[in-house]
Amino acid sequence: MRILGYIFGVFLLISCLNDKNTPLANQPVIVDTTTIPIIPSTPAVNCSPDTVYFQQSVLPLITSNCAMSGCHDAISKKDGVILTDYTNIRKEANPASPTSSDLYKCLNETGEDRMPPAPAAAFNLTQKALVLKWIQQGAKNNSCVASSANCDTVNVTYSASVAPVLKTYCVGCHSAASPSAGIDLSTYAVVKVQAANGRLVGSITHAVGYKPMPSATSKLGSCEINQIQAWITKGMLNN
Ligand code: HEC
Repeated sequence: MRILGYIFGVFLLISCLNDKNTPLANQPVIVDTTTIPIIPSTPAVNCSPDTVYFQQSVLPLITSNCAMSGCHDAISKKDGVILTDYTNIRKEANPASPTSSDLYKCLNETGEDRMPPAPAAAFNLTQKALVLKWIQQGAKNNSCVASSANCDTVNVTYSASVAPVLKTYCVGCHSAASPSAGIDLSTYAVVKVQAANGRLVGSITHAVGYKPMPSATSKLGSCEINQIQAWITKGMLNN
């Protein structure tokens, strides 16, 4: 079965990462962790649905929402915080006390301390739970890639195969609040337009003539790319 969910936001983990005395502003996030999405949506035999994989879930979520230029990329490093890679992201996580980890705490702050800051949307409950669960599981640099033999390109749907991938890897930079290149990939209608005009596939396959996407991290996994292409071939349905 496929498990999904996900979403947007943008920017930094600024001031809250430096302010060690700020109390957790909101009550703890209570989420049924069995609903936490896993990427890839077609898990390889060695992928556990109970494990949050850093490389597939946490890294793209953090880089696309926090590591853009002006925020926590290696050059801007707002407040000295870089969130582009495992070594640096790991510094903000404390598995001995997951809920007091800066990486998690700042998601729950209020006002300008909240990350990502407005106008970016706050992480939703599922995204917060994903970050928390990864820290609780030891904040490891783990990875699980669906083999192409295991990649289901038949039962592909927008809601199960396309939207969760875009939400994890793209919407941080392509939301209504921050539509890079004028493209908001959080809605079906826009995704369909970008699929139909070839820019979606051109960008994710790093085809000549297109900007390679996602811009902050490495290419999507081949299974995700194949599933998106299969969804387009099948008529780009809103299913
Ligand atoms: C870190 C921010 C960031 C992330 C993450 C990101 N994009 Fe982009 N995207 C941009 C920016 C900035 C541009 C404009 C690029 C330029 O003009 O140099 C852009 C441009 C594009 C374009 C237009 C490309 C073209 O050649 O016409 C498409 C399509 C696109 N992105 C799709 C995606 C998809 C799909 C993903 C996820 C797989 C993604 N982007 C992830 C920032 C991002």
